[in-house]
Amino acid sequence: MNNFWMTFTVAIMLPLLFLLASCDTRNTATVSDSRVTRSSESPVRFTELRNPEKVDSVLALMTLEEKVGQLNLLSSGFAETGPVLSEEYRDMIFEAKLGGVFNAHTVEHTLDLQRIAVEETRLGIPLLFAFDVIRGHRTLFPVALAESSTWDPELIKKASRIAAKEATAAGLHWTFAPMIDVSPDARWGRIVESHGEDPLLNAIFGVARIEGFQGDNLYDVTTMMATAKHFAAYGVPEAGRDYNTVDISERTLREIHLPPFKAAVDAGVRSFMTAFNEYDGVPATGSDFLFNRVLRDEWDFDGFVVTDYTAIMEMMPHGYARDDAHAAELSINANVDMDMMSQIFLNELPGLIEQGIVKEEQVDMAVARILDMKFELGLFEDPYRYSDYDREAETIMREDFLEFALEVAQKSIVLLKNDNNVLPLSKDPGHIAIIGPLGDNQYDLLGSWSAAAEWSDNVTLLQGIRNAVPENVRVSHVDGVPLSLDDDSRDGFEEALRLARRSDVVIMALGEGRHMSGEAASRTSLDLPGAQQELLEAVHATGTPVVLVLMAGRPLDIRWADEHIPAIVNAWYLGTRTGDAIASVLFGDHNPGGKLTISWPHNVGQIPNYYYAKKTGRPKDPNQRYTSKFIDAPNAPLYPFGYGLSYTTYEYDNLRLSESEITNTGSLTVSVDVTNTGNRTGDEIVQLYTRKMVASVTQPVRRLRDFTRMTLEPGQTETVTFTLNAEQLYYLDQQLEPVLEPGTVMVFVGPNVAETLEASFEVR
Ligand code: BGC
Repeated sequence: MNNFWMTFTVAIMLPLLFLLASCDTRNTATVSDSRVTRSSESPVRFTELRNPEKVDSVLALMTLEEKVGQLNLLSSGFAETGPVLSEEYRDMIFEAKLGGVFNAHTVEHTLDLQRIAVEETRLGIPLLFAFDVIRGHRTLFPVALAESSTWDPELIKKASRIAAKEATAAGLHWTFAPMIDVSPDARWGRIVESHGEDPLLNAIFGVARIEGFQGDNLYDVTTMMATAKHFAAYGVPEAGRDYNTVDISERTLREIHLPPFKAAVDAGVRSFMTAFNEYDGVPATGSDFLFNRVLRDEWDFDGFVVTDYTAIMEMMPHGYARDDAHAAELSINANVDMDMMSQIFLNELPGLIEQGIVKEEQVDMAVARILDMKFELGLFEDPYRYSDYDREAETIMREDFLEFALEVAQKSIVLLKNDNNVLPLSKDPGHIAIIGPLGDNQYDLLGSWSAAAEWSDNVTLLQGIRNAVPENVRVSHVDGVPLSLDDDSRDGFEEALRLARRSDVVIMALGEGRHMSGEAASRTSLDLPGAQQELLEAVHATGTPVVLVLMAGRPLDIRWADEHIPAIVNAWYLGTRTGDAIASVLFGDHNPGGKLTISWPHNVGQIPNYYYAKKTGRPKDPNQRYTSKFIDAPNAPLYPFGYGLSYTTYEYDNLRLSESEITNTGSLTVSVDVTNTGNRTGDEIVQLYTRKMVASVTQPVRRLRDFTRMTLEPGQTETVTFTLNAEQLYYLDQQLEPVLEPGTVMVFVGPNVAETLEASFEVR
């Protein structure tokens, strides 16, 4: 936009709007009127807005058509994950039929669209620009499952700050992140977007991201609104098949799936997104229970709720809504405020109000919540404040962002196996062969949700290794096999085996392509796709030492590798600096310290095999036939929750509790001495778990209660002290009321859930 228009709009149009907005509007239906007059049957549940007077004043000027326009959110045309129902989004801005646009970014594009909204419509209400800035905007950080493996929320908060700086410099106001769906199911493709199977970790990382995106003050142009998604229980579809039915008890919902969302509300997240799935027979997008009762009434959430992509429309195929009008009624009355892509609010709400089926106050409430955020972002003051060419040029892919992306990537890597200290490799180990379809593949390194990242920026493993070793070291690469679920061609085997035979060490770069996990990418098998497993076995058979590097969006079935390959590095998807991060681990420039936030299944049939399972009445006994076990696989996962190795070793000793008894409002401290017993500096993640041995409702065998990641020099001992409050141990009784009943609580501290020191105390 040229300067004239910018000046004209800011100087003339907006003051005009506010002049109008400041007129006496008391006799118009406003939010404050509805607040005063609402009756107990009214569906409106008013929560305090941040800018009530300002919002009222704008609302008072709006026609019903303009109001429903604010509730409409459309995509600007790329990165869609569903049907595109309208190509006309640009024309609709002229007609004031949009409250926001998503997938629109870059200063140029957002200025163009904002100019239409502000200068070409009657009221000039600015648009919100949203995007799935999940793990970085242009500088790409690791996927969430990887980032959670850092067990370092401060680090991830900083990564989200950087993502917000870049995204807002590209004109964006709002991100559809964090995803805090708890999932214990590696078949579900979106496990890659989660922070693993544990509710506490999802809560802590969710809050870290919200704080990183939103900062202290949303008015600051480097911050953006965050979205807690997907509400609720989206992470446990039956069979791990995306969008499938969810059928869990209210107890499980409240104990496992809701806590991260409650933590998000407490952290001040400004928006929520509905889930595609049903909960207890009701699609989430029309759920009075989830949105009215839990989110608004119990938790007092004061931001706005956006649907997931076409989720209002999807209530029809679910068999819940009869038609568009019914779907609109169900959603708006559930206090869902913004319709992503269905356009059903836009088309149906005016008629429903006319017929008296939906109250106008209900629509006012939704509009008010959206306007409130536009005020908070400062858009009414200057709708173009996020779209600044200079800032965009200076901010995107800053050198320090790329350096930080390397640090996060390094800390996300989990060393799964390292027999006889095969790793780290010497930097001059002779001829290095990199074999596998992820060895020099920039595109697939993008992984799931890559926002504005460009594949050509990604550093591959081959490039990373070349960057790390002296120039005279020979490094070669071949794919060997295609990266495909249905192409198991072995045409490249010969070349790969020839290379393996004439090399001194082989680094196998295997795993999944970027679209093999993520949305709508559920799998019934966790096998390495295509002929990769066979290639791995054939290369191993050449006798050249092999290191396996895995890149994937989920744990894979690597039983064979675990038995035969001495060193396994799990790299998930690490973002722009992938190759540099992996190389730094392979050559020991970085000592790996990441740990799993999901129990790594032995095979797919074990799923779900989360660590917070309960004990049965017939716990496994190998000598007894009729006990709870598989007859063809262990009960335990291949690698337990919290597991990960280092190039040094740690010893845990002297676990002690400050009290032997507490009341159900008391607290105690848990201390343990941790020593670095190896000869390298390293990071250790110390984990605290508890178990209530007997309760009026059976309890999981372990629950993570706290953790810390710390750096220890060789020989250094540190005492780690955790404070455990009784409230942290509350569970839901048979009436779903929180309690902590008298009895024994076991305390476990260790490097992962399966290797712990134990102590106990009594609750009196
Ligand atoms: C996903 C959401 C995402 C939205 C917008 C949907 O398909 O489920 O997580 O935010 O698309 O891109």
